[in-house]
Amino acid sequence: MEWEFPPAWKKLAEEISSQDWRIMLVGGVDCGKTTYARYILKILIEKKEEVAYINADVGQAILGPPATLSMSFLKRFPSQLETVLPDYQWFIGSNSPSGFFSEVILGVHSFVQVLEEKGNPPAVMDTSGLIKGEEGKRLKYMKSLVFQPDLVVILEREDEMEEIHSLLLSGGFRVEKLKVGDFVKVKTRQDRINFRKEKFKRYFEGGEVKEFSLKGLGFVSHTKVIQRGQLVGLLEEKGFLLGLGLWMGVEKGKVKIFTPLKNFDDLKIIWVGRLIIDPETGEEK
Ligand SMILES: Nc1ncnc2c1ncn2[C@@H]1O[C@H](COP(=O)(O)OP(=O)(O)OP(=O)(O)O)[C@@H](O)[C@H]1O
Ligand SMILES: [Mg+2]
Repeated sequence: MEWEFPPAWKKLAEEISSQDWRIMLVGGVDCGKTTYARYILKILIEKKEEVAYINADVGQAILGPPATLSMSFLKRFPSQLETVLPDYQWFIGSNSPSGFFSEVILGVHSFVQVLEEKGNPPAVMDTSGLIKGEEGKRLKYMKSLVFQPDLVVILEREDEMEEIHSLLLSGGFRVEKLKVGDFVKVKTRQDRINFRKEKFKRYFEGGEVKEFSLKGLGFVSHTKVIQRGQLVGLLEEKGFLLGLGLWMGVEKGKVKIFTPLKNFDDLKIIWVGRLIIDPETGEEK
């Protein structure tokens, strides 16, 4: 794919690539956040030994399946970021951060802990397009507080980011604003649904139904009643996601989960999310 960036975008990316910063990209839907994140990664990786890419968007994630957050440490720029396996994953269980702020913020917090353990390599975090109203402000502010970016890059079409901009400035963050142009294409709602469907379909290909005794396992559900196909996170001790599953019911005291995960040695917690998925088509119900 051919990228086209205005001079201000290129200049900022150059500046970023000469630092070891933690960068957070913020903007509404279809503002070119993910494409700019890739561009920054590409030029950063040429100069650095290792760069972290964090996907904090549960909807249109290029890294990992939807309804999760993910982080990868990259040593070279992959020809297809889509095929890179995340090094760390966090379960959200919804295709939107609405109603799941604690899960999202906690996930970013856990990724930051890993970054710190690794000596703070440069990191680029892509975020969701939820920027509207008080909800958008709360989410972006809390994400900034927990991520502690050295620089927040705001991508703006008109003046829709003004309130978030001034909130982040009040929070003491360094913010740079870039104007979005016609080079960024707009996706339809259906494009977004299809994107998630294909990702889920690919993720669950080759999955099998596994049975789990809940003895010795932690169990949490987002809903009181759990439906067939409801998305499940299979978590390890520290809360990181090992793999996704789909709820298939309970039989003879055992929980049945359809999952492509093969190794359950580290499984400690079964966490049921909100989304319901058709295992064959990947469609959300
Ligand atoms: N600099 C660019 N040059 C060419 N095409 C671009 C550029 N930036 C974005 N696009 C195209 O515009 C579309 C939207 O861009 P992108 O997915 O990066 O936006 P986003 O803000 O991450 O969207 P979302 O809200 O879905 O996360 C994509 O089809 C992408 O290929
Ligand atoms: Mg995106």
